[in-house]
Amino acid sequence: MKIKTIFSCQNCGHSSAKWLGRCPGCDSWNTFVEERESGAEQQSSSGIAAVRDEFRTARDSALENAGVHGAYLSGGQDFVSLDLSPDAGDSLDSKSEPKPHLRRISTGMGELDRVLGGGLVPDSFVLLGGDPGIGKSTLLLQMAKGLTQKQRDIKLLYVSGEESIDQIRGRAHRLGIQGEGRIFLAAETILERVFATVKELKPDVIVMDSLQTFSSSFLQSAPGSVSQLREVAARLMALAKTAGISVWLVGHVTKDGSIAGPKVVEHMVDTVLYFESEGGQSYRLLRTVKNRFGSSRELGVFEMEGEGLKEVLNPSSLFLSERTEKMVGTAITASLEGSRPILCELQALVATSGLAVPRRTSVGMDSARIALLAAILEKHMNLPLAQKDLFFNVAGGLRLSEPACDLAAVAAIWSSAMDIAMPTDMLFMGEVGLTGEIRRVSFPEVRLDEAQKLGFNTVVLPKGTPSDTINRAKTSSGLKVISVGRIDELPKKIYG
Ligand code: TYD
Ligand code: MG
Repeated sequence: MKIKTIFSCQNCGHSSAKWLGRCPGCDSWNTFVEERESGAEQQSSSGIAAVRDEFRTARDSALENAGVHGAYLSGGQDFVSLDLSPDAGDSLDSKSEPKPHLRRISTGMGELDRVLGGGLVPDSFVLLGGDPGIGKSTLLLQMAKGLTQKQRDIKLLYVSGEESIDQIRGRAHRLGIQGEGRIFLAAETILERVFATVKELKPDVIVMDSLQTFSSSFLQSAPGSVSQLREVAARLMALAKTAGISVWLVGHVTKDGSIAGPKVVEHMVDTVLYFESEGGQSYRLLRTVKNRFGSSRELGVFEMEGEGLKEVLNPSSLFLSERTEKMVGTAITASLEGSRPILCELQALVATSGLAVPRRTSVGMDSARIALLAAILEKHMNLPLAQKDLFFNVAGGLRLSEPACDLAAVAAIWSSAMDIAMPTDMLFMGEVGLTGEIRRVSFPEVRLDEAQKLGFNTVVLPKGTPSDTINRAKTSSGLKVISVGRIDELPKKIYG
């Protein structure tokens, strides 16, 4: 057999016939690793085709046994007209059961359903990335519990390449998870053996924990190398799509934040979720990075406790919980994370600088944006910031990217520079333009509802906000509204 050697970059997956010191794809150094492939190319693509053929029949018979959507899926119908409603395919079963790709399964965790776009899609391929130890395995074990409790006919297979069966079982028991005969555990790292298990067990959901530990015996390269990651992911994708199994891939993210391994498979999966925590906090943010079945800006919030992850149903109160008295240099805003408004506190510290070029440091908001807002404040409010250091922070470790947060940032910086506290029950929203004008925000009603729910009395809104929104805020929400058109009006409008 002809043995082919290629070198591939372990960071971005760029491959080359010879070793290179610096990767032309991602400019990183010393990332090329020799990978030996024994006719892997042909084997691998036939491997994917084999998965398809193997599971197409397995799926069809499984579905026929279940008595659902058989006619739609079998019969070699590889294309359908767009106009054809998915229900038109088969006449008998259609009324009772929605088609698999329309169905959503609740995971039993509202926060997880939310980031998935309203529940798990039965044949979806999902990547869950995050730092080691962040709680990925815990989250998926709790999902296993939720899924099997909510849906009486769901079977889940949890394959761990990292922990022994006893370890997983021990953890599951500590989390109070009962399998009820429908959660199965396997400790396995060879992909082909996982497939054999899948064929026998016919699960509806598979968790592969973690991507970097699995390898295909078709390839010679080490588990975790780029060619293995690609091969494993490609074959799992084939499995998800042809057998109608929802496949979850866990991916560890390297410490420096570059998602070395999992990044090379992101294009293959339907949904990419990242699980993260900021600055050693006990709560965890689950973010949608990509989603073919819903918004890619959703955010789920959990808290890690002794008994596993707990959903945080009202994140605004969590992010504002440490707020006490009036504080100089802070202002509250409502940021829309996907479909949900989250109230958070922006903090600024303006201090005399000993440096020739004063510092502009920001955590949680783009530094360039903060520098820009500082320049706008200097120009349009005559705030002397040129000789001052400016430190900016979003409390609680949230990362904000919405321009609607500008006005609160401006208010916080102004408050710190002037040493005047903003009223504690006041909420700011508005985008600030270079000429100092305050622009409208999207979906103001959603944000106003959240403000009212959390007991705010006054909202500062852009002048251009539609009058029925303002009226509604005044009458039904009982909020006091301050409309501002330019940032220089701000102090007068607030303090009279
Ligand atoms: P884990 O799910 O193993 O992380 P990952 O799979 O992302 O590597 O999470 C392990 C961490 O979570 C570990 O530091 C202990 C903590 N933990 C709790 O605080 N409470 C719990 O109930 C569990 C199961 C874990
Ligand atoms: Mg784990």
